[in-house]
Amino acid sequence: MTVSTLSAFNAHDTSLPRSIHGEQPVGKSTVAGQHHVVGQPMSAVVASGYGPTSVLALQQVPVPTPAANQVLVQVVVASVTAADSMMRRGDPAFARLFLGVMKPKNAIPGTGLAGIVVATGAEVTRFAVGDEVFGEAGLNFGAHAQYVCVDEDGVFAKKPDSMGFEEAATLCDGPMTSMNFLRRMADVQPGQRVLINGAAGSLGTAAVQLAKHYGADVTGVCSASSAPLVLGLGADRVIDYHTRDFTADTEQYDVIYDTVGKSTFRSSRRALRAGGSYLSPVLSLGLLFWMLWTSVFGQKKAMFDATGLRPADELRVLLDDLVSLHKDGVLRCEIERVYDLSEVQTAHAHVDSGHKQGNLVMRILHKK
Ligand SMILES: NC(=O)c1ccc[n+]([C@@H]2O[C@H](COP(=O)([O-])OP(=O)(O)OC[C@H]3O[C@@H](n4cnc5c(N)ncnc54)[C@H](OP(=O)(O)O)[C@@H]3O)[C@@H](O)[C@H]2O)c1
Repeated sequence: MTVSTLSAFNAHDTSLPRSIHGEQPVGKSTVAGQHHVVGQPMSAVVASGYGPTSVLALQQVPVPTPAANQVLVQVVVASVTAADSMMRRGDPAFARLFLGVMKPKNAIPGTGLAGIVVATGAEVTRFAVGDEVFGEAGLNFGAHAQYVCVDEDGVFAKKPDSMGFEEAATLCDGPMTSMNFLRRMADVQPGQRVLINGAAGSLGTAAVQLAKHYGADVTGVCSASSAPLVLGLGADRVIDYHTRDFTADTEQYDVIYDTVGKSTFRSSRRALRAGGSYLSPVLSLGLLFWMLWTSVFGQKKAMFDATGLRPADELRVLLDDLVSLHKDGVLRCEIERVYDLSEVQTAHAHVDSGHKQGNLVMRILHKK
């Protein structure tokens, strides 16, 4: 394949060039498969620094080379998440110690993806060229591009036929996080009362379905316009946060899961039953204080966890469970909008609005 044919193949093409489809894996090469793609130009989102959506631009960059333990994936769909927005902004500031002090160390953003393996490193055993896969690019980032290298032992798996690329690309965000919080941390039991704040978001839409599946009585907190969605996912009732403050109610819950970090443990304590848990995936100094305090004092507990930093083999078990729930029709991944790669700024702006419903994805490889 020549550079010119690849240059002509951009994110808007409706099919792969014939020569990509026709290539056979290369037996003893250190990179097996379509290794000739490596180093050729591809379309990718590149962040010039931290800041507003305008720091993101579509550029031509070389297709990366997979290391011995990596696969090269042709990205079909990538998710655009609240975490992507936070990383674009370099927020919170201390995260820049890991992401890069002045600008992102990995200029191509994006973590959640689904795609097709096109080449494998010499030591890869779990995947082969042609496998349909999904998962997380993890701290390597780079999923907002036509090709990305992913560690084979990361949070990464073969995509089941029962799940489309779009849904698969979102599974590691809301669904995996909410399963970690509701199953592993809160251990929600049948008959418990669970309140989900931010029930219409990525974490919230998954949480409503999971909590119902675990047998809980579910109250979702969202705006009136999101109420049909949340009720449709199985919530027993909704509270419109514009007109009613759940922390000031007389109702009490065994679990309060604030997916969007809009409440505090202090104000929510009264709404928790004795022995109840307040969980939030959004870390603040206040939550940190109450986690430490309630680990020693009181019956009501405050909890936080960074799901993505848990061991990959543990998260792969969650992914397997989520795939089974999806196959059984228990879980659906709510997708509000599908963008092109060239619309990355628009997608980020919608995340920044704080009112997306469920998940946003970018379709990078357009099939016929
Ligand atoms: N710690 C972890 O492991 C982890 C993992 C993944 C994500 N996160 C974090 O989790 C957070 C949530 O992510 P997400 O993708 O689920 O968020 P999201 O989809 O962007 O949340 C948007 C939703 O929030 C709702 N909302 C806005 N203001 C609200 C309020 N005052 N009260 C109740 N709901 C409100 C909106 O509902 P309406 O439109 O109806 O107003 C909208 O549907 C992010 O901060 C993300 O960084 C943490």
